[in-house]
Amino acid sequence: MSFTDEEGNESLKKSKKKLKGESAWRPEGPRDPFALLDSLPEKKQQEIQRALHLFSLGRSLPKTLQEAKKHTYRFWGTQPVPKLGEKNVTVLSHGPIEGIEASVRDEPYTLPQGFSWDTLDLSNPFVVRYFLETPHISSNYPGKKKHLKVCENVFLYHCTPCQSQWHCGVRVQANKKLVGFIAAVPADVQNVSDREKQTVHVKLLCVHKKLRQKRMAPVLVRELTRRVNLQGLYQAVYTADIVLPTPLSSSRLWHRPLNPRKLMEVNYPRLRQNMNLQRALKFNRLPETTKTNGLRPMTKKDAPEILSLLQDHLCKFKLSSILSLQQVEHWLLPRQNVIDTYVVEGDDGSLTDVVSFYSVTSRVLNHPVHTALKAAHLLCMASTGSELTDLMGDALILAKSNGFDIFTAFDVMDNAIFLEKLKFTVSDKSLHYYLYNWMCPWMNTGFLLAVK
Ligand SMILES: CC(C)(COP(=O)(O)OP(=O)(O)OC[C@H]1O[C@@H](n2cnc3c(N)ncnc32)[C@H](O)[C@@H]1OP(=O)(O)O)[C@@H](O)C(=O)NCCC(=O)NCCS
Repeated sequence: MSFTDEEGNESLKKSKKKLKGESAWRPEGPRDPFALLDSLPEKKQQEIQRALHLFSLGRSLPKTLQEAKKHTYRFWGTQPVPKLGEKNVTVLSHGPIEGIEASVRDEPYTLPQGFSWDTLDLSNPFVVRYFLETPHISSNYPGKKKHLKVCENVFLYHCTPCQSQWHCGVRVQANKKLVGFIAAVPADVQNVSDREKQTVHVKLLCVHKKLRQKRMAPVLVRELTRRVNLQGLYQAVYTADIVLPTPLSSSRLWHRPLNPRKLMEVNYPRLRQNMNLQRALKFNRLPETTKTNGLRPMTKKDAPEILSLLQDHLCKFKLSSILSLQQVEHWLLPRQNVIDTYVVEGDDGSLTDVVSFYSVTSRVLNHPVHTALKAAHLLCMASTGSELTDLMGDALILAKSNGFDIFTAFDVMDNAIFLEKLKFTVSDKSLHYYLYNWMCPWMNTGFLLAVK
């Protein structure tokens, strides 16, 4: 069984017609190992999936440009994105790849029989709870039932503010089970062509584990694109840890242990190999107190000043988000176990600096004591009064005292200034940044809120 993501592509359409009924769902190739897997009991499937993962036998998507060059992009090859190998290093101008004159279809993309589209109303707490309680969908996003309230807050933080028709789900008609989801949030950017551009940020693409590698992801992307186009928007920003055609920029994840003892106890893979516990504790020790005068948690009344601090900071970069006051409040205002933001208030009462990090909780499996690992991930910082390294050093101290086990940050914006100085180490995890339907030059560093 497989989804078909080739609607709209004439040549592929013809070949598709040859496939009838249930056979249209079958992935290409002589046998369908996934159908075999599906027919096994759940426990057996999990064992096999664990083993496949262990030996990396699963079909994997390209993680490097070299691998990408050998990969055939059946879906992305049909989309308005720069082709790999089209040397966008030499592209100097910015502009759309596809004009907006192409008509937007009124009706949703076709799903295989037995499946239907749904729009999730995330303002309804029952819908959010249902989403988070759906195994294999919610398990892509951290948390456990006992932390349901925390999960709800984290989920809503990442998914809203947003138009509800951009919360796009696929359900099994018979039992209403949610098996696929994708969302977009408004994310206007500036300087993509020396002017402001309305775009969306695509997030939370996920497919039920049993329906993976059956081409549901492309159908979700197409349907979301259609819904976004209907609102008159034709560009999107998205990120992935795999190489797709074609990264606008790439960054590496760096991490800094805050609780080395716990990280060692759970065998956290990315700790320095050559250190015993005593050395790791000593090496990663942090001062007890922060050093920046006037550092305090953000409150709602700080939002307008933070907005102008961030705007001044972000306009240094070639591509950056345009934030509204409402977005600053949504993305930065502190919420326990979701987002922490600190500001520095100068002697005259004005704000000079801001630093913000959000919480990412991962489950720890099969450990007698530890059930979760709490990471703080740097969202943004802007500084006009303090040294960036001092401000970040204080953020580490605050994160540690708030119970975080590790701090992570991408080497984007000005972060390279402090990463090594503050004993962050680089991981093997990359994040690639993409623009949909926009051609522009390669940008040297990645962006979270901006590209240099
Ligand atoms: C990401 C995920 C939805 C992909 O589903 P899948 O079943 O492996 O992929 P499908 O068979 O449906 O579709 C494959 C196509 O989707 C593309 N694809 C896979 N992951 C993608 C991603 N993160 N972003 C964009 N496209 C992606 C593949 O490149 C492929 O297209 P191609 O033929 O042009 O190369 C699935 O692995 C998942 O739910 N993972 C857990 C959540 C997650 O990590 N989401 C991504 C970041 S939010």
